[in-house]
Amino acid sequence: MTKYEELQKHLKDNQSTWLITGVAGFIGSNLLEKLLILNQKVVGLDNFDTGHQHNIDQAIEDANKTTGKNLNSNFNFINGDIRELENCKKSCIGVDYVLHQAALGSVPRSIEDPINTNRANIDGFLNMLVASKDAKVKRFVYAASSSTYGDHPDLPKVEDKIGNPLSPYAVTKLVNELYAQVFAKTYGFKTIGLRYFNIFGKRQDPNGAYAAVIPKWVAAILNKEDVFINGDGETSRDFCYIDNTVQMNLLAATTDNNKATDQVYNVALNDRISLNKLYQMIEERLIQRIEGLKNKEPIYRDFRAGDVRHSQANIDKAQALLDYQPKYMISEGMDEAMDWYVDSLSQ
Ligand SMILES: NC(=O)c1ccc[n+]([C@@H]2O[C@H](COP(=O)([O-])OP(=O)(O)OC[C@H]3O[C@@H](n4cnc5c(N)ncnc54)[C@H](O)[C@@H]3O)[C@@H](O)[C@H]2O)c1
Repeated sequence: MTKYEELQKHLKDNQSTWLITGVAGFIGSNLLEKLLILNQKVVGLDNFDTGHQHNIDQAIEDANKTTGKNLNSNFNFINGDIRELENCKKSCIGVDYVLHQAALGSVPRSIEDPINTNRANIDGFLNMLVASKDAKVKRFVYAASSSTYGDHPDLPKVEDKIGNPLSPYAVTKLVNELYAQVFAKTYGFKTIGLRYFNIFGKRQDPNGAYAAVIPKWVAAILNKEDVFINGDGETSRDFCYIDNTVQMNLLAATTDNNKATDQVYNVALNDRISLNKLYQMIEERLIQRIEGLKNKEPIYRDFRAGDVRHSQANIDKAQALLDYQPKYMISEGMDEAMDWYVDSLSQ
């Protein structure tokens, strides 16, 4: 049995209370679904800046379906903004574990609007950190980012070697890590940061100017619209399926390994594929699933400002200290995600 399997078994018989910030978003709603399935109580905080009520509804519905139970009463939603300290304090009451996901994502958004990105990602983060420390929660796990590697040339990326940030977004995520370190030294409040690489899976938003590449392309192909590739398509990323990300959050929150706290970890696969290859993988899967859908060449355009050329993560640290064992490789995750996209986007 893997550590994660053991943990799931343990959680089913031992109920705790978890706060998920950004619960109406992609990653937050997947955390919600899993925790409800594991018989946990969840408080969710969100202001719907980029998240949606339908993500929460669907997460609860999927959890109810999986367990055959009505788990609605195990979830308590607080509609609020993390930029207000009072909301953060209120949300932390009676909470054992905090999974802090709320932030404004996207490198391009941060280039267009650095001030609002800073407010949500730094002011909001600091509010959540203070509220969690004051509430004496057992663990604060937060969404960090691979963008923190910035211009460091090494591949695969190892946690202790970072370069200079390449975007306002990357600055905010680096500052989160600095605050987390300082809170450990100053107050003895030890946290765990998870540097997500490109996460994908169900409920990732296909709409809007700042949509992530996989849902954006899937929606474009299904709607028979043009697909644009920034640059020559040989830019590569370590795409990581959402289930692996949920695993890392749960392992990080509950670890009793002292060496594992006050740390940051890569959340990825140590594998990378180019955008050209990714396009092929998506198109193949959609053609298998949609009758009459034909191959279509993507359109190449300029490289995007602030993007790094290649990204791939070393995951040894997560494996050694947290017993992380990613269950889904890219192609398996892609199969699962594509079934969901076809179901939800063709309705
Ligand atoms: N998806 C990825 O590949 C990826 C990669 C690296 C880091 N991250 C980080 O993971 C976290 C979750 O990302 P996601 O992909 O689920 O994004 P998402 O946009 O789907 O979810 C973010 C959620 O936070 C909420 N939110 C934003 N500002 C808020 C505020 N001021 N107060 C309360 N709620 C607020 C949004 O409404 C949304 O529901 C973010 O911190 C993001 O920076 C994601």
